[in-house]
Amino acid sequence: MPDRYNIIRQRLAQHPQQWLITGVAGFIGSNLLEALLKLDQTVVGLDNFSTGYQHNLDEVRSLVSPEQWKRFRFIEGDIRRMEDCANAVKDVDHVLHEAALGSVPRSVNDPIATHEVNISGFLNMLVAARDAEVSSFTYAASSSTYGDHPGLPKVEDLIGQPLSPYAVTKYANELYASVFARTYGFKTIGLRYFNVFGKRQDPDGAYAAVIPKWTASLIHGDDVVINGDGETSRDFCYIDNVVQANILSATSDAEARNQVYNVAVGDRTTLIQLYDGLQSVLRDNSVSCDKRPVFGPFRAGDVRHSQANVDKAQRLLGYDNMIPLAEGLSRAMPWYIQFVAQR
Ligand SMILES: NC(=O)c1ccc[n+]([C@@H]2O[C@H](COP(=O)([O-])OP(=O)(O)OC[C@H]3O[C@@H](n4cnc5c(N)ncnc54)[C@H](O)[C@@H]3O)[C@@H](O)[C@H]2O)c1
Repeated sequence: MPDRYNIIRQRLAQHPQQWLITGVAGFIGSNLLEALLKLDQTVVGLDNFSTGYQHNLDEVRSLVSPEQWKRFRFIEGDIRRMEDCANAVKDVDHVLHEAALGSVPRSVNDPIATHEVNISGFLNMLVAARDAEVSSFTYAASSSTYGDHPGLPKVEDLIGQPLSPYAVTKYANELYASVFARTYGFKTIGLRYFNVFGKRQDPDGAYAAVIPKWTASLIHGDDVVINGDGETSRDFCYIDNVVQANILSATSDAEARNQVYNVAVGDRTTLIQLYDGLQSVLRDNSVSCDKRPVFGPFRAGDVRHSQANVDKAQRLLGYDNMIPLAEGLSRAMPWYIQFVAQR
């Protein structure tokens, strides 16, 4: 029997709608764009290229048909400017709000910049979307909201104190979203992503995420530094799971709105296990990499362990058939290898 996600994809393909993806030139945004264009949807994308890239958009263009690409309109703009948000959201049915400054260390180094984009920009988007009366608003929340709560696996209602300015901003998003439901009846859905990975995730720079960063280092034969003792653990989530959760959220029933959901697999992998896993997938792809990792100090603001309970998303959204870490790595690795080789 086809699952809920496949039924919705079939329905969407028959009845195209208009979507806005903020942060469309970034990792998650560009993957959402690719999925929606392949479903023949009409998409407006907003981005200021602060951490996103034109080459991500170019790659999507190469993966869809010319007719599908014609259904995409890009706006270079900034969510910190209200007029850009209002312009982007015009005539839109579904908003997928991904634009933000990611990275815990970036927020520790520059909390004001993170605040301005992630809280003021978020509020602009909420107001613009409410005023445009869009039919759904789904936003990127974060597992960092669990902060210092020791419970595992993480369930949506039990959070601790935030451990970084980034975590504060993502929690503030949830608070604003719930106040907008109470005050204006504008119901949104927050997706707490847990360590997402996949193609078009930036391996460069001081704030790169662990999987693309380590993969690029292993390919180059550089040392990989593990922050801490290697026993820190995460619920690594392949990008296709995130795409699925967004499309399900946007098309969800009223009862599923005004909620936040964990988006992950429900597994826990230590950093040392991840390192071994990356080496093994690289070897499967004929890349030799036998170096052992180097251990460095723990990093400020990092949560020690993270693992999601995804029951709520499964129950209320129909989120299902998640792709686990090993399979996600196998799917993503050819892209990483090609991307690193081309630079
Ligand atoms: N990648 C993860 O593991 C992860 C985990 C939890 C939450 N998230 C959240 O998911 C969302 C997408 O993350 P990503 O990994 O794709 O990051 P990314 O940096 O690749 O994408 C973010 C995009 O937002 C754009 N952007 C930033 N500031 C902007 C502004 N002021 N105006 C317009 N556009 C702006 C950037 O240029 C970039 O294209 C973010 O909200 C992030 O906080 C990501």
